[in-house]
Amino acid sequence: MGSPQITENPTIAVDEDEENGISAECKELIHGCRKEKGWRTSFLYEFQGFWCQPKEIDAILSFQKHYLARDSDVILATIPKSGTTWIKSLTFAIMNRNNVPVSDGNHPLLASNPHDLVHFFEYKLYANNQNPNLSILPKPRIFATHIPFGSLSESIKSSDCRIVYVCRNPLDTFISSWHYINQLRRESRPPIPLEEAFDMYCKGVIGYGPFWEHMLGYWKESQERPNKVLFMKYEDMKEDAMSHVKMLANFLGLPFSVEEEKQGLIEEIVKLCSFKKLKDLEVNQNGKSIKNFDNKHLFRKGEVGDWVNYLSPSMVHQLSKIMDEKLGDFGLKFK
Ligand code: A3P
Repeated sequence: MGSPQITENPTIAVDEDEENGISAECKELIHGCRKEKGWRTSFLYEFQGFWCQPKEIDAILSFQKHYLARDSDVILATIPKSGTTWIKSLTFAIMNRNNVPVSDGNHPLLASNPHDLVHFFEYKLYANNQNPNLSILPKPRIFATHIPFGSLSESIKSSDCRIVYVCRNPLDTFISSWHYINQLRRESRPPIPLEEAFDMYCKGVIGYGPFWEHMLGYWKESQERPNKVLFMKYEDMKEDAMSHVKMLANFLGLPFSVEEEKQGLIEEIVKLCSFKKLKDLEVNQNGKSIKNFDNKHLFRKGEVGDWVNYLSPSMVHQLSKIMDEKLGDFGLKFK
């Protein structure tokens, strides 16, 4: 998989530079948007119905204008902290298995963080006023995004490209987000207290949230067009990674042959992309990827149910009620 030359601003956003370098169009737009206190940056703005930071909004505007989907494209979609790194690694390994054998000691996943192999539209490809020529990339191209379904570019919706959505129990996603953001804030600000972050999360104020709208957008589309959107849950993947890798390969139109299955290829992919394997790699211990953030923070515990160690019974009750009210009628439930 080739990747276009794309530069990135290596600075972590702090108050003063949140709006620096964004387009005049974006500046004007955000000044008309509702805003709330942000998690990592000072403010999140309500843009096209979801909460977002100025630089991301600018990149999304550019993506919406310029990105042209091809039928062979694969888009990996998540709300942050739902298993993005994992699904990127699995999809990369599955789709490139004929170019790079999974057992190869020089496999790209052993030397590069998954975010450097599958790029985000909004943090990388269209960030910093870039409009890369993606047509030079070999097919099939794999991209990733946190953008809600409703705000994806029209060509994604109307072409035959495929979307894989990974969803995670909001109780765990919240805890994972809280830890991650506090790691990123360490250099510039004090941590956000758990209770404050929880209130914001329950109000839907989190990057790309409300979480229920994000999930439902992809969930409904997956129900209507199962060949277009594959909806997977982090908890199910943890429980039975092998069958999910098989399901993913089938959905991508690249099913494993009987021979590959006999050789144990599915198991090899699961092992290569496992939390422990990726976490222990030098590149993930000491490297930096998305927006120049330390890769090590992308691998915390990788478990289901860690929320039990942080949330009080009343918090669990409150968030479970929201999940029930917002998602229950649509049949979206979590283990
Ligand atoms: P925790 O914070 O609960 O440990 P994202 O990749 O969307 O940022 O999500 C991050 C979460 O996925 C973190 O959860 C992280 O530990 C977990 N994770 C990262 N790589 C993983 C992998 N290969 N398998 C399972 N979970 C993984």
